[in-house]
Amino acid sequence: MPRWRMLGVWMGLLLGLGGLAMAKQSDSACVQCHTDVTPGVVHQFHEGRMGTNAYLPLDCSTCHGSAHTTAEDFAKATFPTPDTCMGCHADKVEQFRAGKHELAWYAMKTQSALHAQPSAIVGEGYRGCSGCHKIGRKGYIGAEAGNTGPLKWDGGEEASQYRYGNAQCDACHTRHSFKKTEAQDPRACSNCHMGFDHPQWEMYMSSKHGITWDIDGNRGWDQGGRAPTCQTCHMPGGNHNVETAWGFLALRLPTKENVEKLAASVDDAGLKANLQKLAKLLPSGHYIDLDDDVQWTLDRALILQVNEILDQNFQPTERFFEIVAQARAARGPEEFNRLRLQMKATCQQCHSKEYVDDFFLNADKIVKLADHEFAKAIQAVQGLYRDGILKKPEGWKWAPSVAQYYENLTPIELDLYLIYMEYRQRTFQGAFHISNDYMHWYGWAPLKEHVNRILAEAERMRAEQKK
Ligand code: HEC
Ligand code: HEC
Ligand code: HEC
Ligand code: HEC
Ligand code: HEC
Ligand code: HEC
Ligand code: HEC
Ligand code: HEC
Repeated sequence: MPRWRMLGVWMGLLLGLGGLAMAKQSDSACVQCHTDVTPGVVHQFHEGRMGTNAYLPLDCSTCHGSAHTTAEDFAKATFPTPDTCMGCHADKVEQFRAGKHELAWYAMKTQSALHAQPSAIVGEGYRGCSGCHKIGRKGYIGAEAGNTGPLKWDGGEEASQYRYGNAQCDACHTRHSFKKTEAQDPRACSNCHMGFDHPQWEMYMSSKHGITWDIDGNRGWDQGGRAPTCQTCHMPGGNHNVETAWGFLALRLPTKENVEKLAASVDDAGLKANLQKLAKLLPSGHYIDLDDDVQWTLDRALILQVNEILDQNFQPTERFFEIVAQARAARGPEEFNRLRLQMKATCQQCHSKEYVDDFFLNADKIVKLADHEFAKAIQAVQGLYRDGILKKPEGWKWAPSVAQYYENLTPIELDLYLIYMEYRQRTFQGAFHISNDYMHWYGWAPLKEHVNRILAEAERMRAEQKK
């Protein structure tokens, strides 16, 4: 924390919370009673620096208020949000709020499939989507509520419906010790960044980086070891703003120039006009490392269609705005290039520029190859809809849609969802995290397998229709 800020905190405390410093000398009433009621919490608190700092004494009441004072009135205790930390850690809160973690709750709520799930799975129980996505702030108001500008915040309305789970910061600094060293350990990310659609933990631990971290006694570059950790690459300098170039879904926007090139290459006059119209709405520029060619631009446009982001005529849907602009799930060239260069600078602390450039060029090629395979499968399924062999399920606005996840009803569309959420993800995420096994055997191999299954199944369905 910068010195001037510590000074501000000091002054605030001296003026506002004058009595607290004295209370700390002997334990506060909260600590005294809670030593019996929840001894574990008191122990954790006294293990961390906020519980031991001699100059700036914090107490339970700093985060839970002082309204609750007896064994019966504990319902009066309040729970913190990042606003509670703001007074003393404004720099971290501001960085965090500018990054993608802040948007996690909102991003979750944009998903079509979410609405079909029971609230014990996606709501206050915090055992499914909500358990991981509570790292984001509740209460962002977006397109679904008719807001067509930048995201607005409801002032705490949605959060107030949840007693627990609004703290956000405790995702990496576990309560009640809030240790910095714990947050610096890649294991702190692993409860969320693992498994089905984003196995970054498993990929890291099967890469030379993770293995070296492990061999060095779980010490990364920031602790005097040789290997980078998740934090080295994604939170350089302790910056709490996390964001990557390709993002979770590898869905960067097609550029104006590339869509114009695609429009020029097609013969169909209707399609040409639609693409020209789309091009006008897109950001201008070029992607570094591997820019899109005509084929890749078309492949990605199809991927955006099955994500409900572009409609049948390649025009943006209202979800384009919600998911791309508001939830920031896909980036244009300016941001992509900035984030890419920032990442490369991190790699270059330990590798040569040539080695790193070569690495990213190759990884981008893998995204492109995976997109092309996926696009073949998309076209096969879209063809079945076009020819009336598949019918749009009742209540769905778009079909086929991978955003409906496992709510899809036919085997062929379930396979399409698996390609998207599991195999394509593992292919490109494994390439970026240098896990050869994930990239190939858990990614590319089943991706190809499922594309072939879809093509065969589409043939079969057509033959059946003719009978
Ligand atoms: C006289 C004893 C006593 C004192 C003093 C006390 N508490 Fe508690 N507190 C309790 C009991 C009992 C519970 C309920 C614990 C349980 O159900 O396991 C509780 C619960 C809590 C909870 C959890 C509430 C929930 O809904 O989950 C918080 C937070 C809390 N106390 C904070 C504080 C703070 C802050 C202070 C000082 C301002 C304080 N306590 C003072 C006895 C006390
Ligand atoms: C720096 C902020 C901070 C301080 C200081 C703090 N807490 Fe907490 N406390 C939290 C957070 C964050 C949670 C989790 C809330 C949630 O799930 O939303 C929590 C949850 C709790 C809970 C209920 C959840 C559980 O795990 O049972 C109790 C009880 C509690 N605190 C007691 C205390 C006591 C007693 C102290 C003082 C020894 C204390 N807290 C100091 C931030 C703090
Ligand atoms: C009243 C001021 C104050 C508030 C409010 C506050 N902190 Fe702190 N925090 C401190 C002080 C003081 C330290 C210890 C600095 C030191 O000893 O180096 C600290 C240290 C930390 C550390 C680093 C611990 C370490 O191991 O080095 C973390 C993480 C942290 N706070 C998180 C939080 C979170 C999260 C919240 C809100 C839920 C919060 N703090 C609220 C004053 C505060
Ligand atoms: C995604 C994981 C993660 C989350 C979520 C997170 N932090 Fe941190 N935090 C870290 C890491 C990693 C460090 C160590 C940074 C470094 O190496 O300097 C850290 C360090 C800190 C420190 C110590 C700074 C210092 O220089 O000693 C404070 C204070 C802190 N965080 C506050 C917060 C607050 C407040 C929030 C919520 C707005 C928060 N953190 C949320 C990962 C996280
Ligand atoms: C050596 C640096 C490095 C390490 C270590 C690392 N990553 Fe990454 N990470 C990357 C790169 C490079 C990308 C892709 C960046 C781009 O899009 O250009 C990436 C992308 C991501 C993404 C976006 C989706 C994806 O997988 O492509 C997430 C989330 C992520 N990493 C989390 C993690 C977590 C969690 C860990 C630790 C378990 C971790 N990373 C370890 C470099 C690293
Ligand atoms: C409590 C669960 C949780 C923990 C712990 C967590 N994350 Fe995340 N992380 C998420 C979620 C959910 C998202 C998606 C947010 C969004 O994009 O809306 C995310 C997004 C990210 C992204 C942005 C990817 C993109 O779209 O560009 C990066 C990078 C990242 N996390 C890195 C980390 C690192 C590094 C750690 C550990 C220091 C960590 N996370 C800890 C849940 C978590
Ligand atoms: C195990 C924890 C976990 C669960 C459970 C989980 N997510 Fe996520 N989610 C994450 C992480 C971590 C990320 C970021 C991964 C990355 O960038 O590679 C993420 C990313 C996302 C994103 C992408 C945000 C973006 O900007 O790209 C959406 C949307 C999303 N999740 C929705 C959901 C929905 C809906 C559910 C439940 C049906 C769910 N998640 C279940 C951890 C989880
Ligand atoms: C803190 C130092 C450090 C940083 C930062 C770092 N690496 Fe590494 N890297 C290593 C070490 C150590 C090894 C293991 C020794 C080896 O194989 O050369 C390694 C190995 C590799 C390998 C070889 C893996 C193999 O199986 O042969 C690649 C590729 C690689 N790193 C790419 C990257 C990329 C890309 C980045 C940035 C996104 C990056 N590294 C960041 C230290 C680092």
